[in-house]
This record gives sequence, structure tokens and C-alpha cells, in this order.
Amino acid sequence: MHQKSITMKILMVCLGNICRSPIAEGVMEKLIKKNYLSWKVASAGTNSYHIGSPPHEYSINICNKNNVDIKHQRARRFQLSDLKEYDKIYAMAEDVLTDIKHISGSDFDGEKVTLFLNELFPNSNRSVTDPWYGEEDGYAEVYDIIERTCERIVEKYR
Ligand code: 4NP
Repeated sequence: MHQKSITMKILMVCLGNICRSPIAEGVMEKLIKKNYLSWKVASAGTNSYHIGSPPHEYSINICNKNNVDIKHQRARRFQLSDLKEYDKIYAMAEDVLTDIKHISGSDFDGEKVTLFLNELFPNSNRSVTDPWYGEEDGYAEVYDIIERTCERIVEKYR
């Protein structure tokens, strides 16, 4: 059977890969299917505290409310080979971008690796709030901004 070739590979990156980037992966995956795009999306974290863990239960809950299934995801760490593998690498926040720069060293590519929210608010250098330290309501706000940004990315690059 003929497999349609992948035209765009996106990596969503946060710190733990359990709160923000799993939502971004799930939302983008749903949009890819809905729009019949030949894109691939994955996610990773810059720290190693939660490697192998499923997403945070509050991230799973807010995604469930929006018919986005993320409970199968498992956290993994961002690695140097991701720079080659992916066409677009979105950092959820400035501290994440700084971490990616450190991990990448001289391989860093500032065209490929950008702040996620700059797609929605160009040149604003805004960060997706880290909901890890807050209450469950925070995850709904994070979900909304992630969804708007993913929709913008699809409009822009499709
Ligand atoms: P995330 O949230 O980067 O959106 O997955 C965090 C989860 C865990 C930690 C930090 C942020 N942590 O330090 O354990």
C-alpha cells in the first residue's frame, strides 16, 4: 500500500513533557487528522524528571473534555538528534528555549527552533504559563491558548 510521505514534522517541547507539550501534541494530532494533513507531531521535555511517565492527570482531563486523547503518551527527553529529525521545534516557554540552546550547542538552529506562542503573537516572545505549580483551572487556560496557536500553525503552513 502506498504511504503518503510526511511533509512536515513538528516537535512540541516543554520542561517535563507531562503538562504543556503533551496537550500541544494531542491538539495538533487532532487537527492533522481533521484536515487530512501529511504531518507528524511528537513532544519532548528538556528535563529528565518524568521520563516514561504519562501526561499529568489534569492535562489528560482537559484534553478528554475536548475529545483529545493523550493518555497513551509517555514523557521523553529532548535529544540532539531531534534537531535533524524535525522541521519545526516549538519551545513552550523561554526557559525551554534556553535549555534547547544548551543541549544543541553549535547545532542550534534559530529558524527551526522557535517560541510556540510567536506563531499566535508574532515577535512577542511570550511563554505558555507552566501550570505544574497551579490548580486544575490553569490547565483549561493553557489548553485554550495551545489550541488557538495550533490552529494558527495549521492555517499558516498547510
Ligand atoms: P511541563 O510542566 O513542562 O509543562 O511538563 C512541568 C512539569 C514538571 C516539572 C516542571 C514543569 N518539574 O520540574 O518536575
